[in-house]
Amino acid sequence: MTDTLIELVRALPKAELHLHLEGSLEPELMFALAQRNGIAIPFASVEEVRAAYSFSNLQDFLDIYYQGAGVLVTEQDFHDLTMAYLEKVAADNCRHVEVFFDPQTHTERGIAFGTVVEGITRALADGKARFGISSHLILCFLRHLSEEEAFKTLEEAEPWLDRFLGVGLDSSEVGHPPAKFARVFAAARAKGLKLFAHAGEEGPPEYVWEALDVIGIDRIDHGNRALEDSALVDRIVADGLTLTVCPLSNLSLCVVHDLKSHPLRTMLARGLRATINSDDPAYFGGYLNTNWVQTTQALDLTRDELLTLARNSFTGSFLPQADIDRHLAEIETVAARFAA
Ligand code: HPA
Ligand code: ZN
Repeated sequence: MTDTLIELVRALPKAELHLHLEGSLEPELMFALAQRNGIAIPFASVEEVRAAYSFSNLQDFLDIYYQGAGVLVTEQDFHDLTMAYLEKVAADNCRHVEVFFDPQTHTERGIAFGTVVEGITRALADGKARFGISSHLILCFLRHLSEEEAFKTLEEAEPWLDRFLGVGLDSSEVGHPPAKFARVFAAARAKGLKLFAHAGEEGPPEYVWEALDVIGIDRIDHGNRALEDSALVDRIVADGLTLTVCPLSNLSLCVVHDLKSHPLRTMLARGLRATINSDDPAYFGGYLNTNWVQTTQALDLTRDELLTLARNSFTGSFLPQADIDRHLAEIETVAARFAA
């Protein structure tokens, strides 16, 4: 890949649509917060934490990810976590983010729902002022817990509903299909929330069908395994749904075994509106631009594919159309500077 294409990647305005705030907790901040809050962590150094980040599947990662989140206690902690993420992606020329958080990971430990939400939303407002990054926040239900617990979380969210774009579904996929949460998603829809779900990361194409037919989701998180079913791909294309693809996450969790065999190009070629995202950048080796650059190098992505991916990141967002149009116009300006 030429240096020019790397420069193009860096110059392009982008949105990030698949990011777990708890997954942006860097080991340095984990140590600082552990000390600030008097919490013991089972690691002696930042290096030791990093050495523990070797995963053979999703559950391997989730175990260590939930443990790490245990250092987040005060509103300021959630603010600092969010601010650190925004600072990173501002440097990546990211203009808009739609970020997930996992309230149950915190409320289960006795942290008040409001502490989490107030800390995060204060940072999102600060990030808009400091970096000009717009944002939406998505509340994720943990799918390894019951639908009843998800309902309880939706109830707790009631005073802050206007802070959320929608609800999502994450954590251990296999054995916890979307249909398990059909009623709570319907209740969220009735409150005017958008619906998102991780589907087809480790789970089979049937889970993606369920996310579409039973839940009626507005965007698919990951969706890799949808490619195993061509009727499903046709359906996703026909519905115009976006896939939030996470290449370095897929590599770290052995969803793909080599970035060179990542299905991103195939997705684009099949007409799917695929996007590049970082998922849990503190755990998977890099933030937004690192995902873009490494994927571009591994797949030898072309200028046209990069421009499509940048456009997809905004057309797949839930920004107002006027904002999408403004970002798309800027992409064309940058594209003209990097003429074919
Ligand atoms: N999959 C499911 N749950 C998650 C992920 C993921 O990639 N990241 C954080 N929670
Ligand atoms: Zn994810």
